[in-house]
Amino acid sequence: MAAETHPLESIAQVIAFTAQDEALKGFTVALSALDESGFIHIKNESLHILALPPEIWTRPNLLKKVSNPGPSTGTVVLMLTNKTSAMNNLNDVLATPGAIPQWMAEAPVQTATLPTTGAVWRSTINNILQLHKFFLKSDKIGDDLRSDSENIKSVMSISRELNGERDIPKLLNLILLKAREVCRADAGSIYTIESSVETNGITAHHKPGDEILHFRFTQNHSVKQNLSEFKLPINRNSIVGNAVLNRDTINIPDLYALDSDPEKNPFKIRHDRSWDERIAYQSRSMLTLPMFDISHQVIGVIQLINCKKNAAKRLLTPADFASEVCPFDAKSVSYVEIVAQQAGIALENARMTEEIQKLFDGLVDASVTAIEQRDPTTSGHSHRVSALTVELARVVDQTDTGKYGKVSFNEDEMREIRYASLLHDFGKLGVREAVLVKANKLYPEDLALIQERFNLVRASYEIDYLKTQLNIMQRPDMMALGMNPEQLQAERDQRNRMLDEFMTFIQRANQPTVLEQGGFDRLKDIANIHFHDINNEERSLLQDHEVKALSVSRGSLTAEEFAEIQSHVVHTYEFLRKIPWGKKLANVPQIAAKHHEKLDGSGYPTSAVAEQIPVQSRMMTISDIYDALSAADRPYKKSLPPEKSLEILEMEVKAGKIDADLFQLFVESKAYMVVHQGANKTGQKKAS
Ligand SMILES: [Fe+2]
Ligand SMILES: [Fe+2]
Repeated sequence: MAAETHPLESIAQVIAFTAQDEALKGFTVALSALDESGFIHIKNESLHILALPPEIWTRPNLLKKVSNPGPSTGTVVLMLTNKTSAMNNLNDVLATPGAIPQWMAEAPVQTATLPTTGAVWRSTINNILQLHKFFLKSDKIGDDLRSDSENIKSVMSISRELNGERDIPKLLNLILLKAREVCRADAGSIYTIESSVETNGITAHHKPGDEILHFRFTQNHSVKQNLSEFKLPINRNSIVGNAVLNRDTINIPDLYALDSDPEKNPFKIRHDRSWDERIAYQSRSMLTLPMFDISHQVIGVIQLINCKKNAAKRLLTPADFASEVCPFDAKSVSYVEIVAQQAGIALENARMTEEIQKLFDGLVDASVTAIEQRDPTTSGHSHRVSALTVELARVVDQTDTGKYGKVSFNEDEMREIRYASLLHDFGKLGVREAVLVKANKLYPEDLALIQERFNLVRASYEIDYLKTQLNIMQRPDMMALGMNPEQLQAERDQRNRMLDEFMTFIQRANQPTVLEQGGFDRLKDIANIHFHDINNEERSLLQDHEVKALSVSRGSLTAEEFAEIQSHVVHTYEFLRKIPWGKKLANVPQIAAKHHEKLDGSGYPTSAVAEQIPVQSRMMTISDIYDALSAADRPYKKSLPPEKSLEILEMEVKAGKIDADLFQLFVESKAYMVVHQGANKTGQKKAS
């Protein structure tokens, strides 16, 4: 019993377990080394199971070096994957033409996931041995059974097809289709088991035994059925529920032959014919089988209806049902059980991929929130740029004329565009917050310091004035030198007025508008005025860095601060390239890194020119500028209406900075309206 739960985590443990397995008596189990990766060979004179370790999927070039194991009666490729990146890599490799040798592409393929338990590993190997027996048997019996061997090959090749599909609804559709194909079933339904429920984004798991059966959809070759999804409890009241609770296949040869009293039929079920009557159909033979995940938990159910003598025949009349429908025979049941086993694993993998996808989307969302919380002036910008760019990409994809008529984006490329757009400004995290939100030429604390300094100077003027007054009172002879109290007071007032004027000028110069005529000289004049602080040290009314900040001729940033803001693109690239995006999303860092480049080379950070800027980045540039101009929630900047924003963009197009054809598509399709159609619409886009 201990062996049943024995964990197999490494290739060495797998080999040791396999070598001791009773079922493999007469087989040699060995590891052969190629480069640093080993392949497990499990073989006797007629069967060669070649197990490829997970590492190979991260280094697919090694696959080309695997030589054909030879003309043994059967070669089965067993692809070992692990639960993280290997499975994705495997699918990438399998989807790449020429990535695997031809003989391997033609060989039956099974997959198994590591780490595993002894029990699961044994059942995988046994499965292969059973299938191999079919091969040998059909070879011996002769040509009549040749088709069986073809069927078995096709059943085994289904594994590859199922593992290549990660979209759960599409995968379920494919599972049902393949299950129907291998046993000529006219119709069928597929269910999944839900072990948790989500409310307001919080997941709660059902108690064991309280799981729910979720009917997903149905297929029917003969009649059209529109059945929407529904849920039902897992209990003995349904055949599907019985299959889950029994953890076994239920094969009913003819539902119409069952006694209507459940107690009097061997399956203890009551067949409700009302649905059949509604659609003029007869559910006669029925095969219901559970799908298991790798830990042997039931995760879904396939239900097949009406095994047909001739797969192509449609069942339209009662006579058709009487003559064409037959029970599911033992061979069909075996085939479908193999499909169900492979389907269970594919479904578990797809669910895992979906979870990873959700986790990643959540992290991207959290990252976007982190950027936008630092800079409230750009709140919502990343999501809007993403919505605009994805919309423009859709338009480009659907256009078949003009410069971009031949450009299309598949699902992965659209995801790539979406992630790049959402994270295009992520590098702003590397820019000081004070610079990011700087509204005026001086930082607020600098202006406050200048005001304090002026107060200090004012106080020192007052002290000077009072000291002199005191002197005069003590030494009236000084009056004779022309110093009288009225004159002193007038001088003090004059100096205070000068300070007031300076401060008014500084406050005006501090605004992010164009510096007024002669402003630069005036700032220098103010800086040239000195005073003595309480330590009697001579100081200037304006310090050098304050003069420099106030001397900015336009906007609020100095050249250094501007360069710091621009550096966000480099930070974005550095951050994004550290993420292992995988083959399908490999361009995310490059696309994002070029969103400030211009076609004429006047952009940053690399001054790339037209041919160096990918179309995805060009689309993002248009979206980025459009949103910067039109966004309504910027406290320091007035938003421009769409027409005005487009006019400014058009000027950039005419100056040769922005792609004219993409801009035309942006305008003509009204793609920009995606951010003006209310929060709901944007929210939906975000979720899609
Ligand atoms: Fe940016
Ligand atoms: Fe941006």
